[in-house]
Amino acid sequence: MKLGLPLSIQISKMKLFTTFATAAAALIAFSISTIADENHEIIEKVMKEGLKGDDSPMAKLLEGKLDEKETKSLFELVETMKGTKAPLGDQAKYEEKVTQLIAALEAVASGKKDNAAIERLDKAQSCKACHTDHKPKKEKK
Ligand code: HEC
Repeated sequence: MKLGLPLSIQISKMKLFTTFATAAAALIAFSISTIADENHEIIEKVMKEGLKGDDSPMAKLLEGKLDEKETKSLFELVETMKGTKAPLGDQAKYEEKVTQLIAALEAVASGKKDNAAIERLDKAQSCKACHTDHKPKKEKK
């Protein structure tokens, strides 16, 4: 086999390529995990600040105890879930649940507070319905 370049140059070129390839792979891995983290952070924030607990804004809203300004803040918070990826399960089904939740909340936030509107929101914010399909199970060790 004839080599066009001295072997040492060929080897250093290869090393250079390997270094670039490694750096590129690391960068890709980094951005994928960053996206996953951001996704998790958005959902976690909505859950913890908006939905979790008996005196969460969502619980209060369903009991008719949230004022207009707080309702608007809750809507804006929940709206951030739009475009997030399902951490688990079918993306289309997840998106449908998120869309329903945002739409039901938007209706109530814009002043619709009749039984039907509240019931729709109550159903859309069902923790279990969404968690069963889309919340990753805790890893058991
Ligand atoms: C439309 C879907 C959906 C609904 C409705 C929903 N959740 Fe969640 N929730 C999720 C997803 C998805 C996760 C997992 C997020 C992750 O791990 O990235 C989650 C995670 C959580 C967490 C853990 C957050 C953390 O990472 O520390 C809590 C607490 C929580 N939800 C509370 C609630 C409560 C309470 C309700 C009902 C009042 C509720 N959620 C309704 C989708 C939903």
